[in-house]
Amino acid sequence: MKIIGTGSALPTLSVTNNQLATFLDTSDEWITERTGIKARRLLSTESLYDIAETAAKKAIEASGLSPEQIDFLICSNVANRHVTPGISCIMQNRIGIKCAGLDINVACAGFVNAMMLADSMIKAGNARYIMILCAEEPSKYCNWHERDCSILFADGAGAVIVGPGDSFKDVQLTMISNRDVLYYERPLESTPFEKEHEHGQPLVMKGRELFRQAVSESSKDIMKLLSRQGLTPSDIDYYLIHQANKRIVDGIRSLLKEPEEKFPTNIEYYGNTSSASIPILLDEMLAQGRIHDGDKIVMSAFGAGFVSAACLLEW
Ligand code: COA
Repeated sequence: MKIIGTGSALPTLSVTNNQLATFLDTSDEWITERTGIKARRLLSTESLYDIAETAAKKAIEASGLSPEQIDFLICSNVANRHVTPGISCIMQNRIGIKCAGLDINVACAGFVNAMMLADSMIKAGNARYIMILCAEEPSKYCNWHERDCSILFADGAGAVIVGPGDSFKDVQLTMISNRDVLYYERPLESTPFEKEHEHGQPLVMKGRELFRQAVSESSKDIMKLLSRQGLTPSDIDYYLIHQANKRIVDGIRSLLKEPEEKFPTNIEYYGNTSSASIPILLDEMLAQGRIHDGDKIVMSAFGAGFVSAACLLEW
């Protein structure tokens, strides 16, 4: 499998740390120092489906394919206003494709998991060209009266088109059941047969625990991947790490003992866009001409679950 087209789209509204500090007990200095984030894009006038459509159409255009040639759609999304139908069904019509598709929710690790699925489907002969569309609006499930999650999360969409090829080399997936580290509970409708009604909770996070687990499990994923492929960290040209916190990226980097220029970031301007963060970063790097034929690229993500995932591509 190889990536033949990418696209991304972000909300137009950019909100700075100073703007958050007007209604939250926080500061630009604290957020910048602890997370690397200076601003984030938040949905305001447009919807998640609008930006997902833009990202998907850009990826199709970049691939040089016509929409009819896409024969499967994998959408990665944690939550959106529709519990059903799936976001893949909603997006099929808007993108103008006719193929079947499915939704996956592997939190912020959704993109790497979708790459694994797409690779398996192509190898099995079930599809030739697949769109992976990661569309996330975590700003809509943060508690905006509290400073813990709302300073971190942001909205965005990233898409790739994959097709036959030999670029996707290997993948490492990890799942450790630990709901308490990061979760969002939506109340379901009450029935007359329950004793207690369910209550929802905006995103709850144990930041320090998540930070430690992210650095440790992602480094392990990457080392397992590299050792299986007979590679060392210095053989890799770029590490595209989930943009959750610049300090997490730095933590993984210092364990791998590799230079900063191999770890591109855009969290400074976009915040944490969940599973969309890696495809958005990839799309930007390609637009900047930073990725060249033969480059070895590791993508590594982690999130609620606890889940983590890493994959290796040779461009
Ligand atoms: N603004 C200002 N001060 C804040 C703050 C905020 N937004 N959040 C916490 N603080 C304060 C705390 O109250 C505490 O004050 P105290 O020392 O007086 O008690 C101090 O800052 C340190 O808090 P702590 O929570 O220990 O900070 P931290 O260094 O762990 O940073 C996170 C907090 C959330 C930035 C960090 O733990 C993190 O990034 N974790 C991972 C989160 C993540 O990536 N989630 C998504 C994964 S997909």
